[in-house]
Amino acid sequence: MADLDGVKEVKNFYTDIPQKTEGFFLKGSNSLDWGMKNRLARIFNPQSGRTVMLAVDHGYFQGPTTGLERIDLNILPLVQYSDTLMLTRGILRSIVPPSVTKSIVIRASGGSSILKELSNEEIAVNIEDSIRMNVCAMAVQVFIGGEFEKQSIINMTKLIDMGTRYGIPTLAVTAVGKNMARDALYFRLATRICAELGAHYIKTYYIEKDFETVTSCCPVPIVIAGGKKIPEFDALKMAYNAIQQGASGVDMGRNIFQSESPSAMIQAVRAVVHNNEKPEKAFELYNFLKRS
Ligand code: 5RP
Repeated sequence: MADLDGVKEVKNFYTDIPQKTEGFFLKGSNSLDWGMKNRLARIFNPQSGRTVMLAVDHGYFQGPTTGLERIDLNILPLVQYSDTLMLTRGILRSIVPPSVTKSIVIRASGGSSILKELSNEEIAVNIEDSIRMNVCAMAVQVFIGGEFEKQSIINMTKLIDMGTRYGIPTLAVTAVGKNMARDALYFRLATRICAELGAHYIKTYYIEKDFETVTSCCPVPIVIAGGKKIPEFDALKMAYNAIQQGASGVDMGRNIFQSESPSAMIQAVRAVVHNNEKPEKAFELYNFLKRS
């Protein structure tokens, strides 16, 4: 029975303090629904506005990639240093304990292998399964200029439509064909098309020349892929330059898990992304952590 006697009657309505109406911290995301924003805020740290995504989804088209042979042994210990884990549903369900509370970005496209034409992909995870896995975003490859360009764009727009119904953002991954020029002109084209068609954030590659023009004309956040393994200092410098030129984080795989010390490397990358650490200092941190 409700307690009607002795109910405390002194109330304070703070009539002199207007309720705050906060904007959302992430570029181009202020008009999204609460669920979308909440998921994005689990991917991007609201304090720094940036993210360290650990990408380990390479197996979906190239099998047991070097460094990913045993995700249980090599990758799980790194998860604590990431903001987000990007992976396939097969690895999520078979290896990642459900007690992991980091945000999950699920690889949601697939259908081709390194033995065939890579751009021939389709949507490979349905929306119900994404909801079931409690993911914070769905990732889809977009092959601008590729043989199956249109099919890959339609994969993306279908995912965006499905995700929008349930408040799940879509990450468009700009995939570059072997013979295509990796320059600012191409990446402005590819990232802008993805954003115009509704992608909530976009992964692309860093380029030395004019990368800031790619980030500035893309209305939603951009994160960079790490690409092929390069020396640790160079990878930290690339991450630093990308961040200083407008990237909102990294979605890095090989340059972390193929490093001599993956644990030291991901912590050094974190320092660059979240604390604006200079590459030289971050490399010192890497060497220190590697030794200890
Ligand atoms: C595969 C991907 C990878 O997640 C992406 O390439 C990031 O990994 P890396 O830093 O190794 O390039 O999207 O298509």
